[in-house]
Amino acid sequence: MTHTLVYPISSMHTPTGHLAIGGCDVVELVEAFGTPLVIYDEESIRDQCRRYMEAFRQHTDDFEVIYASKAFSSLAIDQLVLEEGLSIDVSSGGEYHIARAAGFPGERIFFHGNNKTEDELKYALSGGVGFVVVDSFQELALLEELSAERGRSRQRILLRITPGIEAHTHSYIQTGQIDSKFGFGLQDGVALTAIRRALAAPHLDLVGLHAHIGSQIFQLDGFRRAIEILVKLIGQAHDELGFECRYLNIGGGLGIRYTEEDTPSSIGDYVTVKVEGVREEMAALGLPMPRVLIEPGRSIVGKAGVTAYRVGTIKEIPGVRTYVSVDGGMSDNIRPMLYDAHYQGLLANKVEAPADTTVTVAGKHCESGDILMRDTLIAKPEPGDILVMAATGAYCYAMGSNYNGSTRPAVVLVKNGRARLIIERETYADLVAKHHPLREQGEA
Ligand code: LLP
Repeated sequence: MTHTLVYPISSMHTPTGHLAIGGCDVVELVEAFGTPLVIYDEESIRDQCRRYMEAFRQHTDDFEVIYASKAFSSLAIDQLVLEEGLSIDVSSGGEYHIARAAGFPGERIFFHGNNKTEDELKYALSGGVGFVVVDSFQELALLEELSAERGRSRQRILLRITPGIEAHTHSYIQTGQIDSKFGFGLQDGVALTAIRRALAAPHLDLVGLHAHIGSQIFQLDGFRRAIEILVKLIGQAHDELGFECRYLNIGGGLGIRYTEEDTPSSIGDYVTVKVEGVREEMAALGLPMPRVLIEPGRSIVGKAGVTAYRVGTIKEIPGVRTYVSVDGGMSDNIRPMLYDAHYQGLLANKVEAPADTTVTVAGKHCESGDILMRDTLIAKPEPGDILVMAATGAYCYAMGSNYNGSTRPAVVLVKNGRARLIIERETYADLVAKHHPLREQGEA
């Protein structure tokens, strides 16, 4: 089929003209689980994990692929990536909790965040978190204090460095530039000072450095420049402070295809640029090769997931446009509104019909900006059709909300004709489960 570029790898057409994913007819899935429904293809996720692991093995034995679970954090998917041999990046106490509940051993967990609270740090330390990626001087001091109180072995840490690079991506998801809330900058020797202080902290073990320059990046040159800058700092810290960099974590960021026009780099090329970049730069300074770590999120789960909606109201404004409204929107996918992200979709019950109708797909929320796809081509829609949006596996459910009293969708994982419910749909009762009324109903 023509859609495989943006849809999960197991996508097929059924003899009845429906879309099937993981051997499951999407029309039957929504009958069983309702809409909106987030469908993840297990094979696609495993395939991406294996591509990363395989690509690394071509270059080195000393590496770690760390799943950035902010892209989609759930028990089942954390377990799946653990089975595939990945480590995990958590960006909060909550994601840490989910990773632990999924069975991740502490030493495989990297704890991130520019404002980790004392409670979060204590929780992670008490669970034996492997690595804390320290983001600020304040955190460095606090972590030293907390590790000293615990009195166990020294807590392993990395320092997050902001290499001063503006990646080619949306400004909201650039993170490597000087003007950033993240990490230690290189200007005025800030990063070097951080390394000095970390080395001097008796209860911390500074094992290496980290940098993440941004997300949804297609051009690899930014990663190469970040490595040059990081290794220069490593060389300086080695000469001046005797710092030995054993771990170099160069973040995530590989872009994916949301529409057929997108042209992301391959996992192979991305890994080559990162590993060989580190090798070349370290060798040029006569320093040993560190363990190379990367943190992909979007490229692990993005294309594996789709969202199925039911078409409701269709409004034709003659000479202007046709709005096709679906039963979800900005509460399950904020990305079009937040980043002007473009998506592609199809009608799962009409996959053989020509995609010849230009429509604008709107959500059901009380905002004119709640538009999922603008001027996109699908088969002629009718109320009741099942519209599937491609590549919604990363940062969609994860950034979901209860806006307008929406209930978060159900999430299923499909494989070989079997669908497993991995997150239940929220209910109306869930919406009030944490609320306390002013008075009970019927009370005077
Ligand atoms: N490592 C760190 C420290 C990060 O901050 C991130 C993403 C990643 C790894 C994973 O990056 P990825 O491989 O997924 O590009 N909500 C935005 C994306 C925010 C990314 C935040 N950090 C979006 O929907 O595009």
